[in-house]
Amino acid sequence: MTALLKVDRINAFYGAAHILHNLSLEVRAGERVALIGRNGVGKTTVVNTLLGLARLGEGQIRFRDSEIRKPRPYLAAQHSIVVVPQGRRIIANLTVEENLVLGAATGRKGPWTVPEIYKLFPILQERAHTPGTALSGGQQQMLAVGRALMANPSLILLDEPTEGLAPVIVDQLATIFNRVADQGTALLLIEQNMSLVVRVAHRYLAMAKGAVVASGEVNNSRDGLKDLEAHIMV
Ligand SMILES: Nc1ncnc2c1ncn2[C@@H]1O[C@H](COP(=O)(O)OP(=O)(O)OP(=O)(O)O)[C@@H](O)[C@H]1O
Ligand SMILES: [Mg+2]
Repeated sequence: MTALLKVDRINAFYGAAHILHNLSLEVRAGERVALIGRNGVGKTTVVNTLLGLARLGEGQIRFRDSEIRKPRPYLAAQHSIVVVPQGRRIIANLTVEENLVLGAATGRKGPWTVPEIYKLFPILQERAHTPGTALSGGQQQMLAVGRALMANPSLILLDEPTEGLAPVIVDQLATIFNRVADQGTALLLIEQNMSLVVRVAHRYLAMAKGAVVASGEVNNSRDGLKDLEAHIMV
């Protein structure tokens, strides 16, 4: 089966700063992959490179069968890849519902509609006409996830979706991510919370200094959790 996303020995830069060094990764349809690594190793830069927000040097990016020489956000969207960015980025002047509808801008039909998102996150329905930025942090993250799902993506990239959230909200999101994956959407979960990783991901890629340095299956046991945590130790 073709990969939804294939990154082959890419190098990426901000100005002259060389951040990613021959980094490779691949996500296939329906997979649940975690990308882990401590602060500053370049996890977000992977996402930024896929969107054209960091400069791609040598290396190759493929979205399904297409080689993407000049990455742009709309190219990812066209290939049914959506990003839930680190820090959520809810549009301030739009209500919750308007934020959701914006997520459907690509027009791709699929299982996710406003009523389905409200079933997933009932709190968003209660707050449908509130400005998105008036929500709590956890609710904004739910909105960011809901907005991404509205594109009916085949792959969703989640950049530290539980950062700064209370454990009870993290638990809710873990359930939702599993439900979304059960529906067939592939996940690339960028995380430093390994208890979330073991609950959601089946495979992990560990980064250090701008490259993938280890990978394997996620072992959902105490030892498995310890092994993963070793990758994010300073
Ligand atoms: N816009 C930018 N210009 C220059 N350097 C940047 C820029 N954004 C990030 N960097 C640097 O690139 C490196 C990788 O940063 P990146 O944000 O990809 O790390 P990260 O793994 O996502 O970290 P975190 O877990 O804290 O989000 C860091 O050294 C960071 O300081
Ligand atoms: Mg980051």
